[in-house]
Amino acid sequence: MHPAMMFVPGSAPDKLAKIPSLPGDALLLDLEDSVAASAKATARALVAEALTRFGTVRPLWVRVNAFSTELLYDDLEAVTVGGLEGINLPKVESARELHLVDWLLSALERRRGLACGTVRLMATIESALGLQRVEEIASAVPRLARLCFGAADFSRDLGLDWPPPDGQLPFTVLQAKATLVQASAAAGLEAPHDGASGEFRDLDRLAMEASAAHALGFSGKHAIHPAQVPVIEAAFRPSEQQLRWASEVVKAFEQHAAEGVGAFAVRGIMVDAPVAARAQQLLRQAQAPGSRDERT
Ligand code: COA
Ligand code: MG
Repeated sequence: MHPAMMFVPGSAPDKLAKIPSLPGDALLLDLEDSVAASAKATARALVAEALTRFGTVRPLWVRVNAFSTELLYDDLEAVTVGGLEGINLPKVESARELHLVDWLLSALERRRGLACGTVRLMATIESALGLQRVEEIASAVPRLARLCFGAADFSRDLGLDWPPPDGQLPFTVLQAKATLVQASAAAGLEAPHDGASGEFRDLDRLAMEASAAHALGFSGKHAIHPAQVPVIEAAFRPSEQQLRWASEVVKAFEQHAAEGVGAFAVRGIMVDAPVAARAQQLLRQAQAPGSRDERT
């Protein structure tokens, strides 16, 4: 769905006022780490107001504070209003957290006259414990749309430097990201989203990071600055060359299937059912970037 979701700090009225003109499909209004402890209550009120004002203009998600904080109940109570597309729950470490948040969201949906189950959820995995329990988290509740990966918190939890000093993702981080991709597919979720890159002036580095996440099987990446959005969108969009190849393969596959042939060559490469199915996936993704591939 939304390959580049941009964070807007919930405590910044000037940035919230720009919601209608900000780039990208969806925005993530933040109540968590971009908001100082002293500004949490103000941010909650500003975000609730922004949802009511702009929620019909574009999809708006809210990153609330983690389950372990005393802030989460008030966050959910304040922002579960018409105009809210979904909640991003950070630092998720168990399925139980999602069950309880799901229960509370259902109660609030009823109270606010919203259709039950329509507020979506994204769960961010950013600790060793969350990673270890990712399977149960991924299948915890039907309203869970996708997982996200938070590299900065994950690295801190494991005592790794972040960003990596040599620019290379440590194997531990790569393995965690690959695990999220696999757990998402097994649970029937959309492919996961990668967290934001803090070095927001270095767009070349961002392009590399986003392409690497795409290659691992992620379907999007969060942005923190408007200039990052087109770079992320480009990284998750199939290239013209891939789409030409996919059209050629799909057409040839249909022709050969009609003649009873299942395996044949296109440009010197064997095409059979899984290759043709992947080509069809690419064509579908080009129409709905970032959407979860249909299983084949
Ligand atoms: N949301 C909305 N507008 C934003 C924005 C954001 N995330 N980031 C930048 N802008 C706006 C600025 O307000 C500025 O607008 P103006 O031209 O009308 O003054 C314009 O884009 C250019 O911004 P720039 O001057 O380059 O950056 P900055 O110094 O104002 O802000 C950050 C830099 C990093 C503080 C800012 O991008 C930000 O707050 N990002 C989000 C941080 C966040 O949410 N972190 C938590 C998730 S990891
Ligand atoms: Mg985090």
